[in-house]
Amino acid sequence: MSKPSILVTYKLPSSAIAPLEAVADVDVYRDGVLSRADLLDRIKGKHGVVVAALDKIDKDVIDSGSDLKVIANVAVGYNNLDVPYARSKGIVVTNTPDVLTEATANMAITLILAVTRRIVEGDRVVRRGDWKGFALDFMIGSEVRDKQLGIIGLGRIGQVVAEKAKQFGMRIAYHNPSARKAADYESMSLDQLLATSDVISVHVPLSPQTKHLIDRKAFSRMKRSAYFINTSRGAVVDEEGLAWALREGIIKGAGLDVYEDEPKVHPGLLALDNVVLVPHMASATAETRAAMYDLVARNVVNVLSGKPPVTPIP
Ligand code: DGY
Repeated sequence: MSKPSILVTYKLPSSAIAPLEAVADVDVYRDGVLSRADLLDRIKGKHGVVVAALDKIDKDVIDSGSDLKVIANVAVGYNNLDVPYARSKGIVVTNTPDVLTEATANMAITLILAVTRRIVEGDRVVRRGDWKGFALDFMIGSEVRDKQLGIIGLGRIGQVVAEKAKQFGMRIAYHNPSARKAADYESMSLDQLLATSDVISVHVPLSPQTKHLIDRKAFSRMKRSAYFINTSRGAVVDEEGLAWALREGIIKGAGLDVYEDEPKVHPGLLALDNVVLVPHMASATAETRAAMYDLVARNVVNVLSGKPPVTPIP
């Protein structure tokens, strides 16, 4: 029987490609993000495809890849994939949970501290040459000790954020759209969590139910002293509404790793000093990316060898 073939849509390191080459012919796209036309073309005849957040694997792409046995996402979030349709075609779909939990939780904590302590704002003042010297009333931020961290979505990442925030003396409240309960923390309705939290951090997957979960109305319910953090998916938040809330002083600050229409960022946010903006890099550490690549390769190799995947999307 001829070797299976795999499309890899990103220039992954050779250490990630090697295990795939041991079982298949591998076609690696090395020039950035594959255009839709090229994706539709190059997926033809492939048995496996390795994709990431910007690759939209919808019905048309799946139909074009009529030999596909596995779609492997190099991400935990999988709103870029039409999972039910792939399943209906008998294709296994996998993601990379767990290995990026720590890095993503660390990014949420980093954003909390960066915005409450005005780190990026301070950096800009120094670089502009506007710093006039130490002053007691200069760059005053907020402590997090004894403040309430409201976590929306207490899944794997939300739980680790909660544990880490406890070390900083924060009280944890959560709203969990699924049924999971955490005895240690206070469960709240979304409205109560929005109205009582000092810092709000979102950790839900993007779905039709969570799209624009945090909109103008939600920001209006928050304390004027609240900080808002998003490391989940941009479209969980109405970015225009967030820009309005930050501009009008409806909330005090925000820290964002993800955006509604990446790599574009709402111009209203770019103009503001009270928001820390980082470019979708929560899982971007050498160690975490290596673990993601290893997991994605094991998923693909397993499926193409007739074994169960390590981390199928449930
Ligand atoms: C994830 O794993 O979902 C990250 O956001 C990268 O896409």
